[in-house]
Amino acid sequence: MKKRLFSGIQPSGDVHIGNYLGAIKNWVRLIDQYECIFCIVDYHAVTIEYNPKDMQKRILNAAAVNIASGLDPNRCIVFVQSYVPEHTELAWILNTITPMGHLERMTQFKDKSKQNAENINAGLFTYPILQAADILIYKSEAVPVGEDQVQHIELAREIVRKFNTRYGETFPEPKEILSEASRIMGLDGKAKMSKSLGNYISLVETPESIGKKLSTAVTDENRKRRTDAGNPDVCNLFTLHKHFSKNEQIETINAVCRTAEIGCVECKKILSNNIIETLTPIRLKYEHLVNDQDYLLNILHTGAKRCKEIVRDTMSEVKKKMGLI
Ligand code: AMP
Ligand code: TRP
Repeated sequence: MKKRLFSGIQPSGDVHIGNYLGAIKNWVRLIDQYECIFCIVDYHAVTIEYNPKDMQKRILNAAAVNIASGLDPNRCIVFVQSYVPEHTELAWILNTITPMGHLERMTQFKDKSKQNAENINAGLFTYPILQAADILIYKSEAVPVGEDQVQHIELAREIVRKFNTRYGETFPEPKEILSEASRIMGLDGKAKMSKSLGNYISLVETPESIGKKLSTAVTDENRKRRTDAGNPDVCNLFTLHKHFSKNEQIETINAVCRTAEIGCVECKKILSNNIIETLTPIRLKYEHLVNDQDYLLNILHTGAKRCKEIVRDTMSEVKKKMGLI
């Protein structure tokens, strides 16, 4: 029997190359090694302000981008969180065993509270408990995510220990799986690449737009003139080269940047071509899928149906152990 793997992505805007390198690429790599369940976490996304008119489109876009990136629905489950209400049911139960102090320590809550000072709601605070419920309701053991989610997975393990101690051995402790690119910086070089900051290259960006965005992206800030030597070790775009360019190109750039034999304009051109080469097949597949709403909805509902079979068993075990049946 394969171990179970679970991960999620919020339908909160364009899926970007940070999501791809940090998470989605690992999802695709592990798809046959585990029994994989991938979730579009709409209940998490509604903890920040959004326009209800956009949400359905965002959910379908997220499904289309992920399938286009390699989440073959014949080899894994792809579904929408709110289609399986037992996630929120288990989240309520986990609420009752999660100490407030643990939630207060979550750095993502602190960051999001700053960004949404006008709407610091209870859902934003208990967000990691719903995330724990997502993982535990499938008794998942592996959770491939970017670095920003590690603290949430640690909390999920803590919740498992509390539940198992209080009600008897029920859940396995889930472990995060990190990629080599678990924290991709934004094109501004200042903050993590993020949907909300607009400092990203989307997975379905057109070739023209990729070139344009890279042309203004921050490189080694100490390199002021073309004749100055650059330092790839502190250049954010060199990190992207490491993930999109060919080995010999990476080696060459690493050397000729330091001797000023290559300038940032030329170096960006090479990177742009390589990103375009990787993303074009994804974009073409996405453009084909995104217009086929019936196909996408069918996949998401079929996925949810399979999930419902699994969660029914978990919930009845949980309720029995808690004396609720
Ligand atoms: P989100 O868009 O917040 O739902 O994130 C989906 C997945 O992408 C999560 O596993 C994140 O940890 C990961 N992720 C988001 N931004 C980045 C980034 N800049 N670098 C690496 N991984 C990321
Ligand atoms: N919080 C995650 C993020 O912002 C998304 C998520 C929700 C998730 N539930 C999950 C990730 C369960 C892994 C496992 O990226």
